[in-house]
Amino acid sequence: MSVSPNSEVRLLGKSEIVRGILADIDCAARSGAKVLITGETGVGKEVVARLIHQRSARAAGKLVTVNCAGLPDSLLESELFGHVRGSFTGAYRDKPGLLEMAPNGTVFLDEVGEMSARMQVVLLRFLETGEIQRIGADRSHTRVNVRLITATNRDLPKEIAAGTFREDLFFRLNVIRMTIPPLRERIEDVPLLFEHYLAYYCEQHHVERPEITQAALDVLLGYRWPGNIRELRNVAERIALKSIGQVLRPADLPSELLRPAPQVAPGAAAAAALAHSAQVEEMTQRMLRHGESFWSAVYPVFMARDLTRADLRRIVEIGLESTNGNYRLLVALYNMPNEDYKRFLGFLRKHNCHLPFQRFRTIPLRAGSGTVHRAPVAAAG
Ligand SMILES: Nc1ncnc2c1ncn2[C@@H]1O[C@H](COP(=O)(O)OP(=O)(O)OP(=O)(O)O)[C@@H](O)[C@H]1O
Ligand SMILES: [Mg+2]
Repeated sequence: MSVSPNSEVRLLGKSEIVRGILADIDCAARSGAKVLITGETGVGKEVVARLIHQRSARAAGKLVTVNCAGLPDSLLESELFGHVRGSFTGAYRDKPGLLEMAPNGTVFLDEVGEMSARMQVVLLRFLETGEIQRIGADRSHTRVNVRLITATNRDLPKEIAAGTFREDLFFRLNVIRMTIPPLRERIEDVPLLFEHYLAYYCEQHHVERPEITQAALDVLLGYRWPGNIRELRNVAERIALKSIGQVLRPADLPSELLRPAPQVAPGAAAAAALAHSAQVEEMTQRMLRHGESFWSAVYPVFMARDLTRADLRRIVEIGLESTNGNYRLLVALYNMPNEDYKRFLGFLRKHNCHLPFQRFRTIPLRAGSGTVHRAPVAAAG
């Protein structure tokens, strides 16, 4: 939940699609109508909502963002509409809701598709009357002039068919509809976005900004980007953190970009994958940059089952990418004494995380016509 100052937001991209989105933003900004923004996770729905507000006649007013996911009904209702003193335990005084805090401004309801059936009714009532009724009050408290922008990565017509989203609410929200296409449908924007975020994170982390080789660019262009621009941004930061030197080659890229595209469903699965990659990233950074040992950074977390096998394999993979497949060097890289070599390998074998080293000895890539193939690798050893 946030009330934002009008900080600068940018929608980068030169593709026809981005030009179209920018034109639609201007069009939506000129009207005061409600906007429903849909699209996969990480495509820029919030960026679009902010730009609509900033370019609209309400720009001098506030933009209040409320994320409808993950909040219990009572809390969400109280955040939006406020409550009166004594309406529930802990309600010591009257409290205004966020809708009242943005007079002549914009309220951005993110993840509106996650609202419970009851909250959908409450929202619908507000949209029909414009009246705010605080929790615990017996009549409406005031009327507000706010513009509503909503966003979701759910397919609302499908939710309506399944009976989980109200059709009447959908028609209220869906006045101006903006659908933001996934990054893989505007792949020509990838170089610009990647350069932008790589430069940004290299500056942030005070590391040299590498030149991107054509082969690395081909990998970026051939990837499906299930997490869209958020994932691209995350990859750029991971590379900046690795401080790889003057040039960026395919082997410097995270291995998931090098594999043939898995069919990742948008939404929860992609978000979970990103959360995991952040945990892996954090652990490898602790070892690579802060000298922490594998035995303290990774081992206990894995044994407590807070790290999956796939994550452990990924950590091994990241190391082997740097050591060119050499396990002895990996032991040193992850800050273990040489004599731990056997113990380390035994541990990996026991948990089925000992990866064949051969595939890290070359750059088995052949890029072309938008897809990236990995050459056959030697059998496990
Ligand atoms: N065209 C763009 N140019 C630059 N940065 C962008 C662009 N689109 C998105 N981003 C960045 O990508 C990240 C994800 O964008 P945003 O939060 O708007 O996505 P979203 O569609 O709301 O995702 P979610 O559905 O997961 O909430 C943000 O860091 C945002 O700044
Ligand atoms: Mg969002």
